[in-house]
Amino acid sequence: MSDIIDVQISQLQKYGVIVGENLDSSFVRFCNNRFSGDRIYVMIDEKVNRLHGSNVEKMCSKAFERVMMLEVPEGETSKSMSEWNKHVNTLLEEGVERSTPLLAVGGGVTGDLGGFVAASVLRGIPLLHMPTSLLAMVDSSIGGKTGINHETGKNLIGAFYQPDAVFTDISFLETLEHAEWITGMAEILKYAAIDNPTIFDKLQTLVDDSLSPKDQWQNVIRESVRIKVDIVQQDALEAGKRAYLNFGHTFGHALENLSGYGELSHGEAVFVGMIAATYFSAQLGHPVDDTRFAPFISSYKQQMATLPEEVDQLINAMKLDKKVKNNTIRLVLLNEWGSPYIHECTDYSLLQESWEYALSQFN
Ligand SMILES: NC(=O)c1ccc[n+]([C@@H]2O[C@H](COP(=O)([O-])OP(=O)(O)OC[C@H]3O[C@@H](n4cnc5c(N)ncnc54)[C@H](O)[C@@H]3O)[C@@H](O)[C@H]2O)c1
Repeated sequence: MSDIIDVQISQLQKYGVIVGENLDSSFVRFCNNRFSGDRIYVMIDEKVNRLHGSNVEKMCSKAFERVMMLEVPEGETSKSMSEWNKHVNTLLEEGVERSTPLLAVGGGVTGDLGGFVAASVLRGIPLLHMPTSLLAMVDSSIGGKTGINHETGKNLIGAFYQPDAVFTDISFLETLEHAEWITGMAEILKYAAIDNPTIFDKLQTLVDDSLSPKDQWQNVIRESVRIKVDIVQQDALEAGKRAYLNFGHTFGHALENLSGYGELSHGEAVFVGMIAATYFSAQLGHPVDDTRFAPFISSYKQQMATLPEEVDQLINAMKLDKKVKNNTIRLVLLNEWGSPYIHECTDYSLLQESWEYALSQFN
């Protein structure tokens, strides 16, 4: 069984996120209806290729005569100019046409890189996402943010580029490692904090149980997709409400930056960041406390690299975030659970205290 959640970005930009199990036939039907060319490019994460590549290739060959598999090395370092350049060169040398689709199969790294390749080649070729990590399913495959990292910061080069469709096949999660479930769960906890606090309780039951793509996970994934779609539809270019999706992220990006990309996963960094942002909110008098995150701390602690302790450097890294304007750090805080707002932070001593509090939870 599958559900289609429609994303309407504008009158002209509309696509579906199909969430379900074993979506091969939906994918083939969609491609047969949508594309008339004989080729598809499949950018696929190296590990996902090892585990699922032959099935993906077989599925694509039911709709296209030529399936060209382009492997993306595993890990955050693939979101680089050199990797982007390599794939752009391959496509152009191959004679890619404006109508040739690119399917990105993998986690957020492959989706962000593949999306930016699709956005830039010939000023844009059709993009399809097939997210395979929990994080990519609930977050990075939806909403059209694509991009790569730069040495001065994360995701500093990129484009808003919407896919033609997203195929969220939760069967991929069968092979996802425990650490990646925990990483992806951070973005779901974010939706719990900014939109639907009942998700906290659902996740607590699921995380205590075994991690496998069963029905309850499918429900939480579908609800997360719905929340993200709802926000993105209202603000595709991040001029307003979409910024709420950055809850915990301004802190998290600073941690990722200082740790060195790849040392700390995005989700781990965001989890620490959400505790800092919740603490900051509580100190301003809002009725939120971070006990909601407490049941999940041990899962993150078990797998996380040592966190940087230099709070001054973390605050400096926050100032480098591309969302900083006039040296004022824009934080997403909580009025209460499910009700985020933007706070222009000038109180650096409270910022320092929030960092110290959050980091102390993991020592
Ligand atoms: N575009 C957006 O809106 C957005 C939103 C959030 C995060 N992101 C980006 O997403 C990235 C993080 O995504 P991620 O956590 O998915 O990282 P990732 O793509 O590196 O995947 C994590 C790991 O899981 C493995 N993997 C993926 N699917 C698997 C499967 N089915 N079975 C076994 N292993 C599998 C990968 O090989 C990798 O080792 C970051 O670069 C972050 O900036 C983008």
